[in-house]
Amino acid sequence: MDSGKVALVTGAAAGIGRAICLRLARDGVAIGALDLNGEGAERTAAEVRAAGGRAIGLAADVSDRSRVQAAVDRLRRELGPVLIVVNNAGMTGFVPFMELTEDTWDRMLAVNLRSAFTVTQVVMPDMLAAKWGRIIMISSSSAQSGAANMAHYSASKGGMIALTRTLAQEFGEHGITANTIPPRFVHNTEMSLASFERPEMQAKFQAMIDAGPIRRHGEPEDIAGAAAWLASDEAGYVTGQVIGVNGGRYI
Ligand SMILES: NC(=O)c1ccc[n+]([C@@H]2O[C@H](COP(=O)([O-])OP(=O)(O)OC[C@H]3O[C@@H](n4cnc5c(N)ncnc54)[C@H](O)[C@@H]3O)[C@@H](O)[C@H]2O)c1
Repeated sequence: MDSGKVALVTGAAAGIGRAICLRLARDGVAIGALDLNGEGAERTAAEVRAAGGRAIGLAADVSDRSRVQAAVDRLRRELGPVLIVVNNAGMTGFVPFMELTEDTWDRMLAVNLRSAFTVTQVVMPDMLAAKWGRIIMISSSSAQSGAANMAHYSASKGGMIALTRTLAQEFGEHGITANTIPPRFVHNTEMSLASFERPEMQAKFQAMIDAGPIRRHGEPEDIAGAAAWLASDEAGYVTGQVIGVNGGRYI
């Protein structure tokens, strides 16, 4: 069943973004799968098409406004106006606070936070014209708890939470909702394999997983299910919320 809606999902080549593309497509949403890794984005789009959905892959760096604008223009031309945006693209990094440079800080903020502003601003005219829209930000539990050696990362994700709340205030009267999901330890993603799933981290992270009532890693599909609900008509009275999909770690 085609919902007639189009979603732009950033960071769609792998992990959580890929899972969100596949899950939204099951609800009949047409997908613009955008990633810095253009081949990976096209691979995700091909998976959606193989399952009977509509999708195109888009190659762009979310920190580059002109590339984002060009990708969104193509998505509009080929699939239609963008009424759902999932700001999921992100990078991580581990640097002790006293060793952080301004360049490292600026790159992290440009990729993780400024991109959420840029991408949302570029698609917003479609949502305003339709008087219906869904903005979903994939932030991080590090913004809720803090995270040692991740000042730049956790600050970027905290900014996403504040941006979500502000967009909810500013655009609610136009039928547009904005919500954020801050994941915690979602495994089998490129980011998790490069960070907490490194062999030397296993014991430490098992202890952190055991600190929550549901004692397992999150799956990309856990996040995708919540994102699909937030993108649906049923969630139209939900806005400005931080939706914890974290095994109950923060209650
Ligand atoms: N996996 C976790 O446990 C976890 C925890 C908290 C938050 N998150 C957040 O979830 C989101 C998805 O992470 P994931 O675990 O699926 O990681 P992932 O590395 O598998 O996926 C991230 C994707 O973003 C893309 N990307 C990175 N920089 C980009 C750029 N400048 N422009 C366009 N695309 C870019 C990458 O190519 C990659 O495909 C990220 O924002 C991450 O911070 C993940």
